Amino acid sequence: MTRKILVTSALPYANGSIHLGHLVEYVQTDIWVRFQKMQGHECWYVCADDTHGTPIMLRAEKEGITPEALIERVHGEHLRDFTGFHVGFDNYYSTNSDENRQLSQGIYRRLRNAGLIEARTIEQFYDPQKDMFLPDRFIKGECPKCHAKDQYGDSCEACGASYAPTDLIEPYSAVSGAKPVRRESEHYFFKLGECEAFLREWTRGGHLQPEAANKMAEWFEAGLQSWDISRDAPYFGFEIPDAPGKYFYVWLDAPVGYMASFGNLCAQRGLDFDAFWREGSETELYHFIGKDILYFHALFWPAMLQYSGYRTPTKIFAHGFLTVDGQKMSKSRGTFITAESYLKQGLDPEWLRYYYAAKLNGSMEDIDLNLEDFVARVNSDLVGKYINIASRTVGFVTKRFGGKLCRALSAEAQGVIDRFGRERPGAPAREALIAAHYDNREYGKALREVMALADIANQYVDEQKPWELAKQEGQEARLHEVCTVSLNLFRLLTLYLKPVLPELAEKVESFLNIPPLKWTDGQQLLLDHAITPYQHLMTRIDPKQIDALVAANRENLKAAPAPEPHSPVRHGEKQQHSPSPQSSPVGGERANVGAIAPMVSIEDFAKIDLRIARIVSAEHVEGADKLLRLTLDIGTDTRTVFAGIKTAYAPELLVGRLTVMVANLAPRKMRFGESRGMVLAAGDGGSLYLLGPDEGARPGMRVK
Ligand code: 2FM
Ligand code: ZN
Repeated sequence: MTRKILVTSALPYANGSIHLGHLVEYVQTDIWVRFQKMQGHECWYVCADDTHGTPIMLRAEKEGITPEALIERVHGEHLRDFTGFHVGFDNYYSTNSDENRQLSQGIYRRLRNAGLIEARTIEQFYDPQKDMFLPDRFIKGECPKCHAKDQYGDSCEACGASYAPTDLIEPYSAVSGAKPVRRESEHYFFKLGECEAFLREWTRGGHLQPEAANKMAEWFEAGLQSWDISRDAPYFGFEIPDAPGKYFYVWLDAPVGYMASFGNLCAQRGLDFDAFWREGSETELYHFIGKDILYFHALFWPAMLQYSGYRTPTKIFAHGFLTVDGQKMSKSRGTFITAESYLKQGLDPEWLRYYYAAKLNGSMEDIDLNLEDFVARVNSDLVGKYINIASRTVGFVTKRFGGKLCRALSAEAQGVIDRFGRERPGAPAREALIAAHYDNREYGKALREVMALADIANQYVDEQKPWELAKQEGQEARLHEVCTVSLNLFRLLTLYLKPVLPELAEKVESFLNIPPLKWTDGQQLLLDHAITPYQHLMTRIDPKQIDALVAANRENLKAAPAPEPHSPVRHGEKQQHSPSPQSSPVGGERANVGAIAPMVSIEDFAKIDLRIARIVSAEHVEGADKLLRLTLDIGTDTRTVFAGIKTAYAPELLVGRLTVMVANLAPRKMRFGESRGMVLAAGDGGSLYLLGPDEGARPGMRVK
């Protein structure tokens, strides 16, 4: 039966580059979609850029362009990167579209008519200089717990505490620096609590992975709060009907963007939008997402759809985050790798697709890109095992048999092909197993089966020794048959790998001179068939290429954002997206970590007196999670400085070290004593590096 399937991946924000963390999801989804299409199902894959919200508005302002110009440029960049990795969307649209405005407003009106929207006045921080309300992430101040300076309004990156922006000591606007004031404003809320009975039932309906269903149980336990879906002007987004100056919060119209992108595709292709979205539709709807945005997709989204008269998702497929070499992606280590840089360095996108697939399963577990293992796995599986089968035999076919495969096979040779992938004593046919694994998103298991088949094929070639047959008299027919069998096995392996390696499969289809492979083609044989000359299929990864990639992505330490004494790690803006205190998103850092600070003049810079200091002593500070008390010798005098570097350095290892300090920073009174200056360290949120001079420098030397 042909199924009608609509598939989505989460919509990436339109203010950042696509990186290897993002690609886990798009590769995962793309493989699944390609598999469904190969099965002959009607399967549509849509996505879009997530374009609204304060960070995008402010980023455009900073660049001196309109939000529309920014999102148009980024749309082009995102689509270029996805295409580069063979992510085959049927439509890649934008949430800033007429279709999305109409659908979002329509859904809102229906929810309002169902009595699920309430207006309430709330008090929030307001930037009087910038004339705007400030999202939590745009308010900074001193952490109420550990007193680290410059912490965000929702959580402290020095001690990890979560709090409300109102708890911050000496809050300031991260947009203008002004002291924010408290101001009231009317907001609109979606009464999620009233959807609880429906959501509890929906959770039990098999739409979620077991881990996700457990998470839902926790959320029900904690109680479903009404969701604030409005934001005040200025805001880049859609105006709320009958509420001038009020805009939908970006997360309201983002998932509606799935519908809008599909609606746009329907208009292009003459498809029936309602058949896919009407209540009770028999078509299937699947959302691939990261586990950090489960709350939006498993609570708000089904409730929004249900109470506005649309169908709800068939399944939500959540995946884990990506780590590189076992750690969060990091700019200082060069493992925060953008899709663009990977492609620009000339690395083959299918290497990464293969590696991700080999690591992926149907759970929400994190996956690790181990760079050494990446090289070894791709080289041994793809080049050493799979490609090898063709390269060992195809030359004989072209040189000795005019590029033609044999007309018929002996019963023995026929048996080799028949058994391959389709028959295993006492076990299910491998081909069916591979298909089931793809369908269940158990790609790692699928590829293990395929590689076991590649081993069988190689073993066949090893045993038949075509290179020896080629030297022997009277073995022409046998050589021809062995090569024909090998290439048929290679064709079958290509078929099984095609969802993962679409470009390679296309090259193989072209040299085998066959139409695009479908799953049912596994039943047929290629005999009495002319192939075209073999073309190069895939090279091995040279480890040097990986070194170059990491070097190209390693960000140099910046001089401008000098760290505070107790907050040495500086972060860029983060896009708000999770209402629950969840861990980091895919890749750990979807944010623009380390955006360059505004320019300063050389005169301003000269005001800062940087000195070489010798750490004379370093001690733990009682009651502080992150601080060390340093005594510094700066030639002319001795200073006590509190530095937030305890997580990175054992105090005893610091004694005697030279470092760089700001000597003319106004003394600051802290709970633990007075800090007179600060030491400089670089960090990306994960790791921390104290700056130090080259050999020969002495305490007291001025740093210029
Ligand atoms: O977390 C994110 O990156 C969001 N831009 C995902 C949106 S997915 C959907 F709901 F639109
Ligand atoms: Zn803190």
